Amino acid sequence: MKIPGGTNQLDQWKSIMFLYDSALKEINTKIEILNNEFVQINDYNPIEHIKSRLKTPESIVKKLKRNGYDVTIENMVDKLSDIAGIRIICSFRSDIYLLADMISRQRDVTVLYVKDYIKSPKPNGYRSYHMVVTVPIYLNGNLVETKVEIQIRTVAMDFWASLEHKIYYKFEGDGPENLQQELKACADMVDMLDAKMFSLNERILEVSREQNKNKNV
Ligand code: GTP
Ligand code: MG
Repeated sequence: MKIPGGTNQLDQWKSIMFLYDSALKEINTKIEILNNEFVQINDYNPIEHIKSRLKTPESIVKKLKRNGYDVTIENMVDKLSDIAGIRIICSFRSDIYLLADMISRQRDVTVLYVKDYIKSPKPNGYRSYHMVVTVPIYLNGNLVETKVEIQIRTVAMDFWASLEHKIYYKFEGDGPENLQQELKACADMVDMLDAKMFSLNERILEVSREQNKNKNV
């Protein structure tokens, strides 16, 4: 991306943050509309809730330094994919793939890459579906493809990830071995719960379809 905002660093920063903020709003609106479309077609709401955030200047600097990059606006734009971040929390595992598919089929959304930590969980047990996409944003008459990281997970996956983040953050990835094993065991229990809830829901849907059929006879 060519850095907008002229040569003044503060103007560049403001323009860049405007782009990311607008991209968040665009994607949020798209997801809201997709959710409504889903309700129309399937008669249920796949999204429990949505959270979005812009990375703070402190976290941007910290991440660039951690990854060995100079702290420049160019590096921030080129090397970081999660300055604009959206997390979609779904009811069931199957909703994740439906939503991911609906998002990637949007005409002006380009998927840069996907990391499927549900098919391949992280060694610590982390599960979630990550997509990095771009959406075009108008700035001074130019269209700028702007990156947004979308994380899609179930309520159960989110429960584990939030608590793991809280517990483990303090150790910066270097926690005691037994704690790691217990957290992994919890992730596996959460995964079992997800599978159980999914099959319960399938059975409930089946029963209500049967009841409707009988009513119509
Ligand atoms: P980060 O430098 O952490 O952004 O990782 P990355 O650039 O390699 O990307 P990745 O897709 O692995 O992770 C992106 C984001 O997913 C993180 O910023 C977290 O929000 C979340 N995440 C990834 N791994 C974990 C994990 O092990 N535990 C928790 N709680 N969250 C995770
Ligand atoms: Mg991140």
